[in-house]
Amino acid sequence: MAGKYRVIQYGIGPIGTMVVRYLAGRPRIEIVGAVDADPVKIGRDLGDLAGLDAPLGVRVSGDATELLRRTQADAVVLTTVSSLEEAAPQVLDIVSSGKNIVSSCEELVYPWVTRPGLARAIDLAAKENRVSVLATGINPGFLMDFLPLVMTGICRNVRKVTAERYQDAQFRRLPFQKKIGVGLTPEEFADRMRGGTVRHVGLTESIHLIASGLGWQLERTGESLSAVIAQSRVTARDLTIEPGRVAGVRQIASGYRDGREAIALVFQAAVGEPNPHERIVIEGDPGIELRLNGVNGDAATCAIIVNAIPVVVEASPGLRTMADLRAVSCME
Ligand SMILES: NC(=O)c1ccc[n+]([C@@H]2O[C@H](COP(=O)([O-])OP(=O)(O)OC[C@H]3O[C@@H](n4cnc5c(N)ncnc54)[C@H](OP(=O)(O)O)[C@@H]3O)[C@@H](O)[C@H]2O)c1
Repeated sequence: MAGKYRVIQYGIGPIGTMVVRYLAGRPRIEIVGAVDADPVKIGRDLGDLAGLDAPLGVRVSGDATELLRRTQADAVVLTTVSSLEEAAPQVLDIVSSGKNIVSSCEELVYPWVTRPGLARAIDLAAKENRVSVLATGINPGFLMDFLPLVMTGICRNVRKVTAERYQDAQFRRLPFQKKIGVGLTPEEFADRMRGGTVRHVGLTESIHLIASGLGWQLERTGESLSAVIAQSRVTARDLTIEPGRVAGVRQIASGYRDGREAIALVFQAAVGEPNPHERIVIEGDPGIELRLNGVNGDAATCAIIVNAIPVVVEASPGLRTMADLRAVSCME
Protein backbone atom coordinates (compact mmCIF):
# COMPACT_ATOMS: atom_id res chain seq x y z
CA MET A 1 0.00 0.00 0.00
CA ALA A 2 1.43 3.40 -0.99
CA GLY A 3 0.87 6.40 1.27
CA LYS A 4 0.06 6.49 4.93
CA TYR A 5 -1.94 4.11 7.12
CA ARG A 6 -4.76 6.06 8.78
CA VAL A 7 -5.27 4.73 12.31
CA ILE A 8 -7.86 5.24 15.07
CA GLN A 9 -6.76 4.52 18.65
CA TYR A 10 -9.63 2.93 20.65
CA GLY A 11 -8.87 2.62 24.39
CA ILE A 12 -6.42 5.06 25.91
CA GLY A 13 -5.11 3.41 29.06
CA PRO A 14 -1.40 2.77 29.66
CA ILE A 15 -1.17 0.46 26.62
CA GLY A 16 -3.17 2.79 24.36
CA THR A 17 -1.07 5.82 25.30
CA MET A 18 2.17 3.92 24.72
CA VAL A 19 0.82 2.75 21.34
CA VAL A 20 0.08 6.40 20.50
CA ARG A 21 3.68 7.37 21.29
CA TYR A 22 4.93 4.59 19.00
CA LEU A 23 2.43 5.47 16.24
CA ALA A 24 3.39 9.14 16.41
CA GLY A 25 7.02 8.23 15.68
CA ARG A 26 6.19 6.35 12.47
CA PRO A 27 6.30 8.42 9.27
CA ARG A 28 3.90 6.06 7.45
CA ILE A 29 1.18 6.35 10.12
CA GLU A 30 -1.40 9.09 10.48
CA ILE A 31 -3.53 9.08 13.65
CA VAL A 32 -7.00 10.19 12.58
CA GLY A 33 -9.16 9.52 15.65
CA ALA A 34 -9.28 8.38 19.25
CA VAL A 35 -11.96 6.89 21.53
CA ASP A 36 -12.19 6.21 25.24
CA ALA A 37 -15.04 5.74 27.72
CA ASP A 38 -13.38 7.66 30.57
CA PRO A 39 -15.03 11.11 30.95
CA VAL A 40 -11.70 12.54 32.16
CA LYS A 41 -10.12 11.75 28.79
CA ILE A 42 -13.01 12.65 26.47
CA GLY A 43 -12.42 15.96 24.65
CA ARG A 44 -8.70 16.06 25.45
CA ASP A 45 -5.98 16.14 22.81
CA LEU A 46 -4.52 12.67 22.25
CA GLY A 47 -0.95 13.96 22.09
CA ASP A 48 -1.32 15.65 25.49
CA LEU A 49 -2.82 12.47 26.97
CA ALA A 50 0.03 10.38 25.58
CA GLY A 51 2.65 12.78 26.94
CA LEU A 52 3.91 13.87 23.52
CA ASP A 53 5.83 17.17 23.22
CA ALA A 54 3.15 18.70 20.99
CA PRO A 55 -0.63 18.22 20.59
CA LEU A 56 -1.70 15.84 17.82
CA GLY A 57 -4.80 17.81 16.85
CA VAL A 58 -6.94 14.70 17.54
CA ARG A 59 -9.59 15.03 20.26
CA VAL A 60 -10.69 11.95 22.21
CA SER A 61 -14.28 11.02 21.43
CA GLY A 62 -16.62 9.25 23.84
CA ASP A 63 -18.89 7.98 21.05
CA ALA A 64 -17.15 5.19 19.19
CA THR A 65 -19.98 4.41 16.78
CA GLU A 66 -20.31 8.02 15.64
CA LEU A 67 -16.52 8.45 15.25
CA LEU A 68 -16.22 5.21 13.29
CA ARG A 69 -19.03 6.22 10.92
CA ARG A 70 -17.65 9.68 10.12
CA THR A 71 -13.90 8.88 10.01
CA GLN A 72 -12.10 7.19 7.14
CA ALA A 73 -9.38 4.91 8.48
CA ASP A 74 -7.46 1.80 7.43
CA ALA A 75 -7.19 0.31 10.90
CA VAL A 76 -8.32 0.63 14.49
CA VAL A 77 -5.98 -0.26 17.34
CA LEU A 78 -8.29 -1.69 20.02
CA THR A 79 -6.74 -1.73 23.52
CA THR A 80 -9.73 -1.71 25.87
CA VAL A 81 -10.43 -5.04 27.62
CA SER A 82 -9.16 -8.62 28.02
CA SER A 83 -12.54 -10.37 27.88
CA LEU A 84 -13.85 -11.26 24.42
CA GLU A 85 -17.42 -11.17 25.75
CA GLU A 86 -16.86 -7.47 26.51
CA ALA A 87 -14.74 -6.71 23.45
CA ALA A 88 -17.04 -8.38 20.90
CA PRO A 89 -19.55 -5.48 20.55
CA GLN A 90 -16.61 -3.09 20.02
CA VAL A 91 -15.04 -5.43 17.45
CA LEU A 92 -18.32 -5.83 15.54
CA ASP A 93 -18.95 -2.08 15.58
CA ILE A 94 -15.48 -1.39 14.13
CA VAL A 95 -15.76 -4.15 11.53
CA SER A 96 -19.18 -2.98 10.39
CA SER A 97 -17.67 0.46 9.72
CA GLY A 98 -15.26 -1.23 7.30
CA LYS A 99 -12.01 -0.95 9.28
CA ASN A 100 -9.34 -3.53 10.01
CA ILE A 101 -8.45 -4.22 13.65
CA VAL A 102 -5.26 -4.88 15.59
CA SER A 103 -6.17 -5.56 19.22
CA SER A 104 -4.45 -6.44 22.49
CA CYS A 105 -7.55 -8.35 23.71
CA GLU A 106 -6.09 -11.56 25.13
CA GLU A 107 -9.16 -13.75 24.56
CA LEU A 108 -9.29 -12.69 20.89
CA VAL A 109 -5.79 -14.08 20.16
CA TYR A 110 -7.18 -17.55 19.46
CA PRO A 111 -10.88 -17.75 20.40
CA TRP A 112 -11.80 -20.66 18.09
CA VAL A 113 -11.90 -23.22 20.92
CA THR A 114 -12.67 -21.12 24.00
CA ARG A 115 -15.36 -18.85 22.42
CA PRO A 116 -16.28 -20.53 19.12
CA GLY A 117 -19.62 -18.70 18.68
CA LEU A 118 -18.05 -15.25 19.04
CA ALA A 119 -15.10 -16.30 16.87
CA ARG A 120 -17.46 -17.35 14.06
CA ALA A 121 -19.56 -14.17 14.37
CA ILE A 122 -16.46 -11.94 14.17
CA ASP A 123 -14.99 -13.96 11.29
CA LEU A 124 -18.24 -13.75 9.32
CA ALA A 125 -18.70 -10.02 9.95
CA ALA A 126 -15.07 -9.34 8.95
CA LYS A 127 -15.49 -11.30 5.72
CA GLU A 128 -18.78 -9.55 4.89
CA ASN A 129 -17.10 -6.17 5.39
CA ARG A 130 -13.86 -7.26 3.66
CA VAL A 131 -11.60 -6.44 6.61
CA SER A 132 -9.34 -8.48 8.87
CA VAL A 133 -9.12 -8.74 12.64
CA LEU A 134 -6.00 -9.72 14.60
CA ALA A 135 -5.29 -9.82 18.32
CA THR A 136 -1.65 -9.92 19.32
CA GLY A 137 0.68 -8.80 22.07
CA ILE A 138 3.63 -10.25 23.89
CA ASN A 139 1.78 -12.92 25.81
CA PRO A 140 -0.57 -14.09 24.46
CA GLY A 141 0.34 -13.28 20.89
CA PHE A 142 4.07 -13.93 20.66
CA LEU A 143 6.44 -15.22 23.38
CA MET A 144 4.52 -18.22 24.68
CA ASP A 145 2.66 -19.27 21.54
CA PHE A 146 3.72 -17.90 18.15
CA LEU A 147 7.48 -18.02 18.87
CA PRO A 148 7.50 -21.66 20.12
CA LEU A 149 5.26 -22.63 17.22
CA VAL A 150 7.64 -21.08 14.68
CA MET A 151 10.58 -22.83 16.36
CA THR A 152 8.98 -26.22 15.65
CA GLY A 153 9.32 -25.41 11.94
CA ILE A 154 12.84 -26.89 11.97
CA CYS A 155 11.79 -30.10 13.72
CA ARG A 156 11.11 -33.40 12.02
CA ASN A 157 8.73 -34.28 14.83
CA VAL A 158 7.62 -32.72 18.12
CA ARG A 159 6.67 -34.53 21.33
CA LYS A 160 6.25 -31.61 23.71
CA VAL A 161 6.37 -27.82 23.75
CA THR A 162 7.22 -25.98 26.99
CA ALA A 163 7.34 -22.21 27.42
CA GLU A 164 8.24 -20.47 30.67
CA ARG A 165 8.11 -16.78 31.41
CA TYR A 166 9.36 -15.25 34.68
CA GLN A 167 8.87 -11.48 34.89
CA ASP A 168 9.80 -8.81 37.39
CA ALA A 169 6.42 -7.06 37.57
CA GLN A 170 7.88 -3.83 38.98
CA PHE A 171 8.55 -2.80 35.38
CA ARG A 172 4.95 -3.40 34.24
CA ARG A 173 2.09 -0.90 34.23
CA LEU A 174 -0.21 -0.44 37.24
CA PRO A 175 -3.28 -2.26 35.73
CA PHE A 176 -1.05 -5.30 35.18
CA GLN A 177 0.22 -5.19 38.77
CA LYS A 178 -3.41 -5.03 39.94
CA LYS A 179 -4.37 -8.00 37.75
CA ILE A 180 -1.68 -10.11 39.42
CA GLY A 181 -2.71 -9.05 42.93
CA VAL A 182 0.43 -7.16 43.96
CA GLY A 183 0.23 -6.03 47.61
CA LEU A 184 -2.87 -8.07 48.58
CA THR A 185 -3.03 -10.31 51.63
CA PRO A 186 -3.23 -14.02 50.78
CA GLU A 187 -6.91 -13.97 51.91
CA GLU A 188 -7.76 -11.02 49.63
CA PHE A 189 -5.94 -12.82 46.80
CA ALA A 190 -7.97 -16.00 47.39
CA ASP A 191 -11.23 -13.98 47.34
CA ARG A 192 -10.33 -12.24 44.09
CA MET A 193 -9.12 -15.49 42.56
CA ARG A 194 -12.56 -16.99 43.21
CA GLY A 195 -14.15 -13.91 41.61
CA GLY A 196 -11.80 -14.23 38.61
CA THR A 197 -10.39 -10.71 39.03
CA VAL A 198 -6.77 -11.68 39.69
CA ARG A 199 -5.13 -13.71 36.96
CA HIS A 200 -3.19 -13.37 33.78
CA VAL A 201 -5.56 -13.86 30.83
CA GLY A 202 -4.60 -15.78 27.71
CA LEU A 203 -2.62 -18.90 28.59
CA THR A 204 -5.35 -21.27 27.39
CA GLU A 205 -5.65 -19.28 24.15
CA SER A 206 -1.87 -19.68 23.71
CA ILE A 207 -2.17 -23.46 24.17
CA HIS A 208 -4.85 -23.64 21.46
CA LEU A 209 -2.83 -21.46 19.07
CA ILE A 210 0.16 -23.80 19.42
CA ALA A 211 -1.97 -26.94 19.10
CA SER A 212 -3.77 -25.68 16.01
CA GLY A 213 -0.46 -24.76 14.35
CA LEU A 214 0.89 -28.26 15.03
CA GLY A 215 -2.34 -29.91 13.87
CA TRP A 216 -2.78 -31.47 17.31
CA GLN A 217 -6.18 -32.45 18.70
CA LEU A 218 -5.99 -31.90 22.46
CA GLU A 219 -8.02 -34.12 24.77
CA ARG A 220 -8.21 -31.42 27.42
CA THR A 221 -6.55 -28.32 28.80
CA GLY A 222 -6.13 -27.20 32.42
CA GLU A 223 -4.96 -24.10 34.22
CA SER A 224 -3.85 -23.54 37.82
CA LEU A 225 -3.18 -20.27 39.65
CA SER A 226 -1.44 -19.49 42.93
CA ALA A 227 -0.01 -16.43 44.66
CA VAL A 228 3.71 -15.69 44.90
CA ILE A 229 4.19 -14.51 48.49
CA ALA A 230 6.96 -12.06 49.43
CA GLN A 231 9.36 -13.86 51.80
CA SER A 232 11.01 -10.62 52.91
CA ARG A 233 10.27 -6.92 52.37
CA VAL A 234 10.43 -6.15 48.62
CA THR A 235 11.19 -2.56 47.71
CA ALA A 236 10.99 -1.85 44.01
CA ARG A 237 10.66 1.58 42.38
CA ASP A 238 7.62 3.18 44.08
CA LEU A 239 6.35 -0.10 45.61
CA THR A 240 7.01 -1.74 48.95
CA ILE A 241 5.62 -5.20 49.67
CA GLU A 242 5.79 -6.47 53.22
CA PRO A 243 6.68 -10.11 53.93
CA GLY A 244 3.59 -12.34 53.77
CA ARG A 245 1.86 -10.13 51.18
CA VAL A 246 1.30 -11.09 47.56
CA ALA A 247 4.12 -10.17 45.16
CA GLY A 248 2.43 -11.65 42.06
CA VAL A 249 1.06 -14.80 40.43
CA ARG A 250 2.24 -18.18 39.29
CA GLN A 251 0.03 -19.69 36.62
CA ILE A 252 0.48 -23.00 34.84
CA ALA A 253 -1.48 -24.16 31.80
CA SER A 254 -1.30 -27.59 30.19
CA GLY A 255 -2.62 -29.21 27.04
CA TYR A 256 -2.95 -33.01 26.95
CA ARG A 257 -2.63 -35.35 23.99
CA ASP A 258 -2.52 -39.16 23.92
CA GLY A 259 -2.97 -39.13 27.70
CA ARG A 260 0.11 -37.01 28.48
CA GLU A 261 1.05 -33.36 28.81
CA ALA A 262 2.09 -32.18 25.35
CA ILE A 263 2.07 -28.39 25.91
CA ALA A 264 3.13 -26.77 29.18
CA LEU A 265 3.11 -23.02 29.82
CA VAL A 266 4.52 -21.61 33.06
CA PHE A 267 3.85 -17.94 33.72
CA GLN A 268 5.20 -16.22 36.82
CA ALA A 269 5.01 -12.46 37.29
CA ALA A 270 6.02 -11.00 40.63
CA VAL A 271 7.49 -7.76 41.90
CA GLY A 272 11.17 -8.37 42.69
CA GLU A 273 11.32 -11.66 40.69
CA PRO A 274 15.04 -12.44 41.00
CA ASN A 275 15.62 -14.16 37.68
CA PRO A 276 13.45 -12.71 34.88
CA HIS A 277 13.69 -14.76 31.71
CA GLU A 278 11.82 -16.62 29.00
CA ARG A 279 12.68 -20.19 28.08
CA ILE A 280 11.23 -22.29 25.29
CA VAL A 281 11.97 -25.99 25.07
CA ILE A 282 10.90 -28.12 22.13
CA GLU A 283 11.20 -31.85 22.80
CA GLY A 284 11.46 -33.39 19.37
CA ASP A 285 13.87 -34.18 16.63
CA PRO A 286 15.96 -32.09 16.94
CA GLY A 287 15.36 -30.86 20.48
CA ILE A 288 15.68 -27.06 20.82
CA GLU A 289 16.07 -24.70 23.75
CA LEU A 290 15.86 -20.92 23.52
CA ARG A 291 16.44 -18.54 26.43
CA LEU A 292 15.78 -14.78 26.50
CA ASN A 293 16.70 -12.42 29.31
CA GLY A 294 13.33 -10.89 30.18
CA VAL A 295 11.38 -8.95 27.56
CA ASN A 296 9.42 -5.90 28.78
CA GLY A 297 5.84 -6.95 28.05
CA ASP A 298 4.27 -3.51 27.78
CA ALA A 299 6.85 -2.08 25.36
CA ALA A 300 6.88 -5.27 23.29
CA THR A 301 3.07 -5.43 23.13
CA CYS A 302 2.85 -1.88 21.83
CA ALA A 303 5.62 -2.51 19.29
CA ILE A 304 4.06 -5.66 17.87
CA ILE A 305 0.66 -3.97 17.63
CA VAL A 306 2.10 -1.09 15.63
CA ASN A 307 4.24 -3.39 13.48
CA ALA A 308 1.20 -5.55 12.70
CA ILE A 309 -0.83 -2.70 11.18
CA PRO A 310 0.43 -3.05 7.56
CA VAL A 311 0.21 -6.83 7.78
CA VAL A 312 -3.41 -6.73 8.91
CA VAL A 313 -4.40 -4.09 6.35
CA GLU A 314 -3.00 -6.30 3.56
CA ALA A 315 -4.36 -9.61 4.95
CA SER A 316 -7.26 -11.49 3.43
CA PRO A 317 -10.56 -10.75 5.24
CA GLY A 318 -11.64 -12.60 8.38
CA LEU A 319 -10.55 -13.30 11.94
CA ARG A 320 -6.84 -13.95 11.65
CA THR A 321 -4.22 -15.30 14.07
CA MET A 322 -0.48 -14.64 14.28
CA ALA A 323 0.02 -18.08 12.72
CA ASP A 324 -1.84 -17.37 9.49
CA LEU A 325 -0.44 -13.96 8.51
CA ARG A 326 2.81 -12.99 6.84
CA ALA A 327 5.59 -12.33 9.37
CA VAL A 328 5.20 -9.21 11.45
CA SER A 329 8.50 -7.33 11.52
CA CYS A 330 9.64 -3.93 12.72
CA MET A 331 8.12 -1.36 10.38
CA GLU A 332 9.98 1.90 9.65
N1 LIG B 1 -1.77 -9.58 24.68
C1 LIG B 1 -0.88 -9.01 25.48
O1 LIG B 1 0.27 -9.44 25.55
C2 LIG B 1 -1.26 -7.79 26.29
C3 LIG B 1 -0.24 -7.02 26.86
C4 LIG B 1 -0.59 -5.88 27.55
C5 LIG B 1 -1.93 -5.52 27.71
N2 LIG B 1 -2.90 -6.32 27.19
C6 LIG B 1 -4.32 -5.96 27.36
O2 LIG B 1 -4.57 -4.73 26.69
C7 LIG B 1 -5.67 -4.06 27.30
C8 LIG B 1 -5.30 -2.60 27.56
O3 LIG B 1 -4.35 -2.52 28.62
P1 LIG B 1 -4.35 -1.25 29.62
O4 LIG B 1 -3.40 -1.55 30.70
O5 LIG B 1 -4.15 -0.01 28.81
O6 LIG B 1 -5.85 -1.34 30.19
P2 LIG B 1 -6.72 -0.26 31.00
O7 LIG B 1 -5.86 0.49 31.97
O8 LIG B 1 -7.90 -0.98 31.52
O9 LIG B 1 -7.15 0.79 29.87
C9 LIG B 1 -8.15 0.54 28.94
C10 LIG B 1 -8.77 1.85 28.51
O10 LIG B 1 -9.83 1.54 27.60
C11 LIG B 1 -11.03 2.19 28.04
N3 LIG B 1 -12.21 1.41 27.70
C12 LIG B 1 -12.64 0.24 28.23
N4 LIG B 1 -13.79 -0.14 27.65
C13 LIG B 1 -14.09 0.81 26.72
C14 LIG B 1 -15.16 0.99 25.82
N5 LIG B 1 -16.14 0.10 25.72
N6 LIG B 1 -15.16 2.07 25.03
C15 LIG B 1 -14.17 2.99 25.11
N7 LIG B 1 -13.13 2.88 25.96
C16 LIG B 1 -13.09 1.80 26.76
C17 LIG B 1 -10.86 2.29 29.56
O11 LIG B 1 -11.71 3.29 30.08
P3 LIG B 1 -12.23 3.14 31.61
O12 LIG B 1 -11.01 3.23 32.46
O13 LIG B 1 -13.20 4.26 31.77
O14 LIG B 1 -12.87 1.77 31.67
C18 LIG B 1 -9.38 2.64 29.68
O15 LIG B 1 -9.14 4.02 29.51
C19 LIG B 1 -5.99 -4.86 28.58
O16 LIG B 1 -7.07 -5.72 28.36
C20 LIG B 1 -4.71 -5.66 28.79
O17 LIG B 1 -4.92 -6.83 29.58
C21 LIG B 1 -2.58 -7.44 26.47
